[in-house]
Amino acid sequence: MHATLCDLITDLVQNSIEAGASEINLKVEETQTNLNVVIADNGKGMSAELLKKAKDPFYSDGEKHKHRKVGLGLPFLFQTAEMTQGEASIESTENIGTMVRFRFDPEHIDLPIFGNFTSAAVTLMSYGFEGNLSIERSVNGETYTVSKNELTEALGDLNDLESLTLMKQFIETNEEEINKRPDGSNRSVQSV
Ligand SMILES: Nc1ncnc2c1ncn2[C@@H]1O[C@H](COP(=O)(O)OP(=O)(O)OP(=O)(O)O)[C@@H](O)[C@H]1O
Ligand SMILES: [Mg+2]
Repeated sequence: MHATLCDLITDLVQNSIEAGASEINLKVEETQTNLNVVIADNGKGMSAELLKKAKDPFYSDGEKHKHRKVGLGLPFLFQTAEMTQGEASIESTENIGTMVRFRFDPEHIDLPIFGNFTSAAVTLMSYGFEGNLSIERSVNGETYTVSKNELTEALGDLNDLESLTLMKQFIETNEEEINKRPDGSNRSVQSV
């Protein structure tokens, strides 16, 4: 199961990768009152019928996990939204793409902890799929963006140990910067 919201985000981006997307956009925006996430891809999308099934907590396409017919990504998302009075939606068009959005109340007692966004981003950037992943990340109005194409251009193969280290440093520095409070102190960046 998902220990953190960053695990959930990772899982949902993985769905886009598995759908053969060549372009994935991930937006993760935190404010005092909202956590807003959008994952948009140009992958194979879903038919209306499949979309309906995908929202069902007892459905997975049956190909990936031979012994488990229950998907974890979308059901966990909808369950969390329900449990915490948040919102979650998924729109999809076959052969065009899919957009998953959610909005959670970061203060809700039943919300899983946010987790470590640097680790999630590094994992996704080095996942080794062909397409591009662009991330737009903001905390209380402070924003940075990073894309796999830009990183690859600057660092070369992202699975190379040195590139991996530099990428991690780059994302971590940006995370520290946007998590700074106006008084100069840092919001606790959870390391999970
Ligand atoms: N972005 C997407 N594009 C196309 N199809 C998708 C997308 N996201 C989910 N799906 C479809 O919805 C199904 C359910 O997704 P979900 O993440 O809940 O489970 P899963 O990916 O099958 O299994 P798990 O996430 O546990 O490995 C997928 O099997 C896939 O058919
Ligand atoms: Mg999945």
